[in-house]
Amino acid sequence: MEVRGAGKAYLSAGSTVNALADMTLALRAGELTGIVGPSGSGKTTFLMIAGLLEPPSTGAVLFRGQPIADARTRLNSLRDFRRTHVGFIFQKANLIPFLTAVENVQIALEINDVRPKAARAKARDLLARFGLEQRENNYPTQLSGGEQQRVSIARALANDPVLLLADEPTAALDGARGRQVMQEFRKLADERQVAVCVVTHDPRWSDIFDRIVEMSDGRMTTVRPGGAPTAPVEL
Ligand SMILES: Nc1ncnc2c1ncn2[C@@H]1O[C@H](COP(=O)(O)OP(=O)(O)OP(=O)(O)O)[C@@H](O)[C@H]1O
Ligand SMILES: [Mg+2]
Repeated sequence: MEVRGAGKAYLSAGSTVNALADMTLALRAGELTGIVGPSGSGKTTFLMIAGLLEPPSTGAVLFRGQPIADARTRLNSLRDFRRTHVGFIFQKANLIPFLTAVENVQIALEINDVRPKAARAKARDLLARFGLEQRENNYPTQLSGGEQQRVSIARALANDPVLLLADEPTAALDGARGRQVMQEFRKLADERQVAVCVVTHDPRWSDIFDRIVEMSDGRMTTVRPGGAPTAPVEL
């Protein structure tokens, strides 16, 4: 998925906020990209545009080289595409409160016409991958913040997305759980060629990323390779 020359202006309280300005970034299959930057620098806005949840105000979004969204696109028309291609992990877990953990994951599959029994089995597998086998029948209020976040990660993976966008997925997790989630993302990129993009404030994961994009004031300021810290490349 490529975001090309994208800007995003929000009108709020009569004034315009330029949340994103002329951002160009391609998220490629098999690549794990980290996005860092201060609060309000446009990280979530970028994910929303790359994940086709918001149209850009200017510029365009391309999928496999073909234009898929611009300012005129009605995003409802992309709902099916999103459902089958994109996994989104929001800054807040956003679970459905009246469904249990396993049902929250299961419903993502059933929406895509997976039969209930198969959906249940896959949902349970996914929860087990994140150490939640003992929690699958709990409702969101009966889960800790970190557990809720892990359910939302399992849900984002339910339909085997080719693009996975995660907004601070490890913020509510302790170090070991956080690393486990990041390693799961690494594996998805390596073994299934998923394009993964993760917003994070956490410097502990920088070794896991292929590259780290820094944002400031709605712009991409530097891109540097992940792994051991190196000098950033000025854009
Ligand atoms: N729906 C909206 N309406 C008006 N302004 C918005 C809206 N969404 C975001 N903004 C503004 O756009 C700017 C970028 O917001 P964004 O959520 O992308 O930042 P962020 O980098 O994700 O920050 P954080 O690290 O705090 O999550 C901010 O100034 C924010 O107030
Ligand atoms: Mg944000």
